[in-house]
Amino acid sequence: MLTIRVNGREHQVEAPGDMPLLWVLRDLVGLKGTKFGCGIAQCGACTVHLDGRPLRSCVMPVGSVGKAEITTIEAIGETAVGQRVQQAWLALEVVQCGYCQSGQIMSAAALLARNPAPDDLAIDSAMSGNICRCGTYARIRAAIKEASSA
Ligand code: FES
Ligand code: FES
Repeated sequence: MLTIRVNGREHQVEAPGDMPLLWVLRDLVGLKGTKFGCGIAQCGACTVHLDGRPLRSCVMPVGSVGKAEITTIEAIGETAVGQRVQQAWLALEVVQCGYCQSGQIMSAAALLARNPAPDDLAIDSAMSGNICRCGTYARIRAAIKEASSA
């Protein structure tokens, strides 16, 4: 039995220490907003925050999380930055199929938390690990700028 902190609450989970955090979040904690894409840290669909930093949960063994605070897409709107990002995403109608977008929002919120006014280079660098097969990159960049100026 492991205890992890997710979105401000403790959860006890029956999981081997080498189970990927993504599996635990979706199948044991029941938070389905974080998506499985590639499973090998290449697409960013599974991005969550660990103590505020973006992390690919598909390759993070749950046993290595320890006491760190995990934040998922379900709770990112409870932070001021996360709320601005989500509002910008809606205002600019960023989403197409939506599959990659929880990961995109988590990476964008982590970027704006550490750099409130990123330039194009900083945005592209922070978002380069999040792949969108629908090609919403231009709207994502515009929404990050919208959220940064709010
Ligand atoms: S599912 Fe984790 S990076 Fe693709
Ligand atoms: S919105 Fe479809 S994969 Fe990004």
